[in-house]
Amino acid sequence: FETGALAGKKVVITAGPTREAIDPVRYISNHSSGKMGYALAEAAAEAGAETILISGPVSLTPPDRVRTIAVTSAQEMYEAALHEADGSELFIASAAVADYRPVQTSQQKIKKDAAEMTIELVKNPDIVSAVAALANRPFTVGFAAETANLENYARGKLERKNLDLVIANDVSDRTIGFNSDDNEVLVVEMNTSEAIPKINKSILARQLIAKIAEMTNPTK
Ligand code: PMT
Repeated sequence: FETGALAGKKVVITAGPTREAIDPVRYISNHSSGKMGYALAEAAAEAGAETILISGPVSLTPPDRVRTIAVTSAQEMYEAALHEADGSELFIASAAVADYRPVQTSQQKIKKDAAEMTIELVKNPDIVSAVAALANRPFTVGFAAETANLENYARGKLERKNLDLVIANDVSDRTIGFNSDDNEVLVVEMNTSEAIPKINKSILARQLIAKIAEMTNPTK
């Protein structure tokens, strides 16, 4: 692993879940722990990058030499990501962004008198797609969390979201993906794919950063 492979580059990484408020005490979210994104931020900083970590609510300690921006909702993550990604060289979307948010957030705690209730949801903006659509776009890497057809769905996301690279993980396996210390991924490019077997997220992050550094700056 070459130290300094990302020296002089600005790298922006999203990590963790987002929380979409239903009322002051309840929210919609998912099981992302932030481990994958924090490991990537640590590896990017180690490789010499100016590293910005945009993190949803997690219980991890921010890595050294990384500027961490704490956000809660998908909308907040979107605004921070677009602001930071503009003018950056590399954007990695490892966050598990909530796809939908409640249309209305109640200002008061909702009473539990009714036997049934319905929460109407509206789609959140797609952060990584918006970054990939910037005029001066960074090299844009997405993740794909799938429970079946890993390569096909990952390739679909690569094309639909106009990404340079997709890192796909099978989140139906509890020993990898969400909240585990290890991950096993398929790195999907337009014409090729490479499987990386199950390994600790810190080690995987270094391998992924080395690969991305090589793709973005092949002469180094
Ligand atoms: O945090 P950990 O516990 O370590 O778990 C790691 C992880 C499983 C969360 C991570 O490896 C991972 O797969 N992250 C992406 C999770 C996800 O939401 O995948 P997706 O297939 O739904 O989304 C595809 C891509 O679009 C992702 O890069 C996602 O960040 C991005 N996206 C999705 C929706 C949205 N509104 N905006 C986005 O940017």
